[in-house]
Amino acid sequence: MDRKQLLIAFTLLFAVSISAFAQSKKSAKPLDDTQLKTQLDNLAESIEPKVIAWRRDFHEFPELSNREFRTAKVIAEHLESLKLDEVRKGVGKTGVVGVLKGGLPGPVVALRADMDGLPITEKADLPFASKAKAEYNGHEVGVMHACGHDSHVAILMGVAEVLSQKRQQLRGTVVFIFQPAEEGPPAGERGGAELMVAEGVLDNPKAEVIFGLHINSMTPAGVIRYRAGGMMASADQLYIKVNGKGVHASRPWGGNDPITAAAYIIAGLQTVVSRMSPITDSPVVVSIGSIEGGNRGNIIPDFVEMRGTIRTLDPEVREEVHENIRKVATNIAESQGTTAEVVITKATPTTFNNPELTRKMLPTLEAVAGEENVKVTLPITGAEDFAEYQLKIPGLFFFLGGMDKNMSPEQAPEHHTAGFRLDESGFTLGVKAFCHLVVDYSGGK
Ligand code: NI
Repeated sequence: MDRKQLLIAFTLLFAVSISAFAQSKKSAKPLDDTQLKTQLDNLAESIEPKVIAWRRDFHEFPELSNREFRTAKVIAEHLESLKLDEVRKGVGKTGVVGVLKGGLPGPVVALRADMDGLPITEKADLPFASKAKAEYNGHEVGVMHACGHDSHVAILMGVAEVLSQKRQQLRGTVVFIFQPAEEGPPAGERGGAELMVAEGVLDNPKAEVIFGLHINSMTPAGVIRYRAGGMMASADQLYIKVNGKGVHASRPWGGNDPITAAAYIIAGLQTVVSRMSPITDSPVVVSIGSIEGGNRGNIIPDFVEMRGTIRTLDPEVREEVHENIRKVATNIAESQGTTAEVVITKATPTTFNNPELTRKMLPTLEAVAGEENVKVTLPITGAEDFAEYQLKIPGLFFFLGGMDKNMSPEQAPEHHTAGFRLDESGFTLGVKAFCHLVVDYSGGK
């Protein structure tokens, strides 16, 4: 072997060993994503009894918005037992935040569950039915998990347990957000997603995406429903005060009648929906739920007050509708010799599923639930404060089936009713769906 041959031999040897090293690096990667997801699914199935037990415990001991002290304690103890990298308590009043750092580099993914019950006395015949009572608006009321937030907490506790057992194989960081007061804080208090966002729940570590789910008592267990774009409505409060000039009702021409003006305004507001909004693209609801003015049949009062709610499913339509309501109310008032003060208070924004994110993650939902079990839902005119996170970062919110498969939606008890109940066999799909969303999102799929 001359020097040249020797050099070639060495070069070859070097190249072979480099590629062998690269191979060995490759084979050293412990699991591919399919294997990882299978293991996560097995873990999710194995902890199903725990998730159901947690849910029953929360169901038996529900707490009202911003009063979720016991719930928060149970959550925090669980997250601490999992040895997460960080467990923060008292975020947004009673919220709990857990941070799990994976063993591999990747994005920060946030997952959210809401924690609060409702001032409803439970009528369901269940061994773990709530007997809880609390004070609400100065009255003693029954308290019940009549919207299924007990299941959301239990599912997310399950996700934290499953993912923490595979932390070395995870890319990036997972932030578990347990949020109080989704149903709205008590009068005079702040709370819910808005407060958690204000307190920096998405900032440290900086989340780039958020996923959330809501159990649904009228969707069969095993089914997921979703919608790209506006899925649940914004809910804004409307207050209108019509100022006129009081007069004896026998000679109305001597004053300016705010009662007649108010009647025209209420009718006119419906044209904001039927004549001015693109309702085939994006539904709109304007409802007046309260009207008050005067105290006797023969006296025209000085003013009338009305309160209502505005629901829209698109942020731009929302602004247009607000503008049209102001225009219609003030112009009609003016035509009657009165004036209208219009106050629109933006409460909950539209739950808006980022279309690009939804498209990207749909195969994940289809893979975990089975393609035939993932359905597009009609837009919902109810509101959900998950929308607050979606104002900051792209988010995907979906409905998880919680109805007994042998029932029809017509027979199923509705959310926010005393007979509300859930089929617990639907929970494990929620645990798996969150785990798969984390793995697939961090893998760039
Ligand atoms: Ni709810």
